[in-house]
Amino acid sequence: MTIVPVKDSWKNGTLLTRERYLDWYRRSVEDVEGFWREHGRRISWIKPYTVVKNTSFQPGAVSIKWFEDGTLNLSANCLDRHLETRGDQTAIIWEGDDPEDSRRITYRELHADVCRMANVYKSLGVGRGDRISIYMPMIPEAAVAMLASARVGAIHSVVFGGFSPDALAGRMEGSTSKLLVTADEGLRAGRKVPLKANGDRAIEISAKAGHQVEKVLVVRRTGADVPMVEGRDHWWHEERERVSTVSEPEEMGAEDPLFILYTSGSTGKPKGVLHTTGGYLVWASMTHQYVFDYREGEVFWCTADVGWVTGHTYSVYGPLANGGTTVMFEGVPNYPDAGRMWEVVDKHAVNIFYTAPTAIRALMGAGDGFVARASRKSLRLLGSVGEPINPEAWNWYYRTVGEERLPIVDTWWQTETGGILMTPLPGATDLKPGSAAIPFFSVKPELVDGEGKTLYGAADGNLCITDSWPGQMRTVYGDHERFEQTYFSTYPGKYFTGDGARRDEDGYWWITGRVDDVINVSGHRMGTAEVESALVSHPKVSEAAVVGYPHDVKGQGIYCYVTLMNGEAPSDDLKQELVRHVRNEIGPIASPDKIQWAPGLPKTRSGKIMRRILRKIAEDDFGALGDTSTLADPAVVDDLVENRQNRK
Ligand code: WTA
Repeated sequence: MTIVPVKDSWKNGTLLTRERYLDWYRRSVEDVEGFWREHGRRISWIKPYTVVKNTSFQPGAVSIKWFEDGTLNLSANCLDRHLETRGDQTAIIWEGDDPEDSRRITYRELHADVCRMANVYKSLGVGRGDRISIYMPMIPEAAVAMLASARVGAIHSVVFGGFSPDALAGRMEGSTSKLLVTADEGLRAGRKVPLKANGDRAIEISAKAGHQVEKVLVVRRTGADVPMVEGRDHWWHEERERVSTVSEPEEMGAEDPLFILYTSGSTGKPKGVLHTTGGYLVWASMTHQYVFDYREGEVFWCTADVGWVTGHTYSVYGPLANGGTTVMFEGVPNYPDAGRMWEVVDKHAVNIFYTAPTAIRALMGAGDGFVARASRKSLRLLGSVGEPINPEAWNWYYRTVGEERLPIVDTWWQTETGGILMTPLPGATDLKPGSAAIPFFSVKPELVDGEGKTLYGAADGNLCITDSWPGQMRTVYGDHERFEQTYFSTYPGKYFTGDGARRDEDGYWWITGRVDDVINVSGHRMGTAEVESALVSHPKVSEAAVVGYPHDVKGQGIYCYVTLMNGEAPSDDLKQELVRHVRNEIGPIASPDKIQWAPGLPKTRSGKIMRRILRKIAEDDFGALGDTSTLADPAVVDDLVENRQNRK
């Protein structure tokens, strides 16, 4: 299948017809200010903006501001403004790990809880500009904690509940968080995750590094008996009873920080991506409405955890800003079995379902019977995000899940972009399996070659964006120079995405994957450098090099070449030990899939590891190793190939 023409049923009732998209897109790039002056009003402002855009991508002077003189409160936009018209409508449908466990929360109830938590924050001495780390399972209180942070004008940093104490500590230090919001335990596939214990450990680690987290707010989830530190730790269910359900939202500037989200890059430690309030919310709400063609009263389910940007923008902020009903799912796709997702779709009459290719591939592998068990008749639209979707998985999603009835939006974006930048639009675009199709409003993609020369027409190259959009990240928290260096120095004057892409003869965009040392494992972004530094922190490891390799379900797997210290003997037990070590250092999502012992690593004479060669060996592509003559010791390559062939 090469192309699926847009169906009449998809156009029915849609706001964005093809003509309107073309018309709006033209305006959004020709009259950027006029376009956003109008669409910025889709959210409620306390003091309306007069200035729309003030941005520069110029090296040494990168600065991004949108709606800068406007003021607003994000939680008031997601809650208060809906109370009059939809106070009794469900805001969040929570589906627990256990299929027997679910809850519906109305806008009125959510509003009351957010006000309570805002008051608890204040009673703990946390307010405007303070940082709050949120380390939570997928329960409604995670959204409450985020919205309450926005309500008091604090800055949240959500840390995925699967990260280790070390990883959490690094993020709490980096953001100098005053408060940690966590739960006694999380629950995934029936297994308990010791969140509070991890949090305690992380606070100790940060304290040793010189940062003291002052307060901990603990949500009771499983009822586990967890130690509470007197004066530092507080139970949410107790504090909640002591405070009122009234909390005046803080008046924030459009450019006041809303959240920090740590994400992996090609070098060094994860970066704290900083998003601000006004532009981010406009982008979240605009993309949520138009990309998913979201209609009043519909149930929207984005399966992403709030620990990732997709969970921020499309599980919480986008749908709530639009007065929608959002599903939060605590569990995993294959528990109790691989029919769970479709069962949940039927149970809650989900209209729009948005997930990652890795989940699609895993469910495809489990067989069509699980899909057929559910009617899925409520579904109107399917979405994909996080990594390139292979045509086989796309076709299965389209045919088996959607029964050729539902459009698929393959949405390309990044933590840095705040929301979707490229995607098909359900009522406007013919679909090509694997293509992220066309840019959203004001997004100006450009392909450049290695030297930075702009490529025109059908071409393959590195993907840049040449002008700002409201949802763009503003800086790396506490390190503006790193922001400029990472995104604006490779091709001066342009935002470089780190992705490769192809534009075909119809002008459709195809994302080909990262061109830097970032890998995408089950839709999770990982810096190879992070895994390497975890490996070399083990006393028996002298050096390590990590690359991605194609993996049937995960998209990419983690392949590690490890050189041991002199005198250390390689063994399968040691491999297991290293896997455990990496899990402890970063978290289970960073578990090495393969470890190969490497007596030496291929390095240039200046000591740079040639990963290109390591990637080829990991892929079993020995004929394409390319030129190895610049290596300091070309013989190491022969050893690696031999070891690979012998699966050592
Ligand atoms: C990849 C997730 C192909 C890409 C929202 C990007 C995709 C990285 C797609 C960002 C897609 C995301 N097709 N690749 N539809 N969506 N990616 O920051 O490599 O976790 O740079 O944001 O995921 O990952 P992040």
